[in-house]
Amino acid sequence: VIKAAVIGAGNMGRQHIATLRALALEGLPIEDCVVSDNEIAALSRVAESFGITDTSPDWINTISRDDIDVVHICTPNSTHFAIAKAALLRGKHVICEKPLAVNAEECAELVALAAESGLTGAVCFTYRGYEAIERARRLCLDGALGDVHMVRGGFVQGWLASAMRWDWRIDPSLGGPSRAMADLGSHWLDLATFVTGESPIRLVADLQVIVRHRRRQLDDTRSSAQVHDADVAVTTEDYGSVMFQTDRFPGAFTVSQVSKGYENTFWLEVDGSEASLSWTSEEPTRLRLLPSNDAIDALPSISGHGNTEPAHEPAIQRILRSAYREIWNGLETSSQSVHANLADGLRSAQLVDAVLKSAATHQWISVPSNAPERYAFQSAGAASSANASGIPD
Ligand SMILES: NC(=O)c1ccc[n+]([C@@H]2O[C@H](COP(=O)([O-])OP(=O)(O)OC[C@H]3O[C@@H](n4cnc5c(N)ncnc54)[C@H](O)[C@@H]3O)[C@@H](O)[C@H]2O)c1
Repeated sequence: VIKAAVIGAGNMGRQHIATLRALALEGLPIEDCVVSDNEIAALSRVAESFGITDTSPDWINTISRDDIDVVHICTPNSTHFAIAKAALLRGKHVICEKPLAVNAEECAELVALAAESGLTGAVCFTYRGYEAIERARRLCLDGALGDVHMVRGGFVQGWLASAMRWDWRIDPSLGGPSRAMADLGSHWLDLATFVTGESPIRLVADLQVIVRHRRRQLDDTRSSAQVHDADVAVTTEDYGSVMFQTDRFPGAFTVSQVSKGYENTFWLEVDGSEASLSWTSEEPTRLRLLPSNDAIDALPSISGHGNTEPAHEPAIQRILRSAYREIWNGLETSSQSVHANLADGLRSAQLVDAVLKSAATHQWISVPSNAPERYAFQSAGAASSANASGIPD
């Protein structure tokens, strides 16, 4: 039986706790988790809603416990590295929220540590877990689109459109040197790579702070910046656009956190010589295939769903199920996995670092190629078969 510690009991931490409960109900050998958060109020909420009282405000004590096998990291971005490193050094598997860390150097250290120890490291790029995305990936990698001509897309939100909004992500000491790109662009870059099997090797970016000053709330005590309840000059980007080139095709995408009216709109379009596909989080269970819209009917497990069916919760379940299957079976099963590993987290961070460098220098930046072996041509049958553990897919 596997026992997990969830570090950070905010929005994502609570989703991880709920997902672990759901997977245990499915029959996965997972015990009730231990929770750590440096805010006592967050721990009280966990006790109230989940009945979990095995909690601590001190994450280092929590992850050092002998009975903990897996550490889930659901804290602000700048804390991921220290927690992941400490967990791996103590022989614990790591399941980290994205981004893996706030720069590629930190990510590379984690990749090396995990490789030395043979422990599982997963990064929660949740959109990989959408069923429609898995279909898109298989269509792409099985050659159904022909040669890929280009990839386009974006990820836009509006929750920071008002200068009155504040969040830890705006403080670089918590969110890291990149905001919209690390928060949203990291997801987009990972998903485009997951679906097409190709990662950008050159890129040029424009990043902009649109809301230049923000009112910081009095009750925000988590941030380490000096100013309280004042106009704070914002240094990290609200908006970014990137043009890139992979080994085989070009692409472009835009991210924003200040697009009023957009809650969370993510879209990915892959245009090929034989067919093009597009997916949007507005209709998360559908894939659109062109030139024939009828092609949607060729995807029965998708077309049978209503447009509004919630897809995010099942996606998190698929990601964590995949990571736990790897923990249970050992790393040799990772070619069957849906979840991102630490090398994928590093790749995403290398690209975000390159975006920052490009925006600062107004130059195209090369990003060393990273052969996507684990995406190598994989038939739909192979991708969905082998499951030696008996743990459900
Ligand atoms: N995969 C996704 O789709 C997705 C979506 C949202 C957020 N995230 C990621 O999840 C992480 C958490 O984001 P969130 O939205 O849940 O934030 P949040 O603010 O809701 O929760 C963060 C929690 O961490 C706690 N915390 C802060 N510092 C801590 C420390 N040193 N030790 C212990 N606890 C600490 C806070 O008290 C808070 O309860 C971020 O890295 C974010 O990028 C991922």
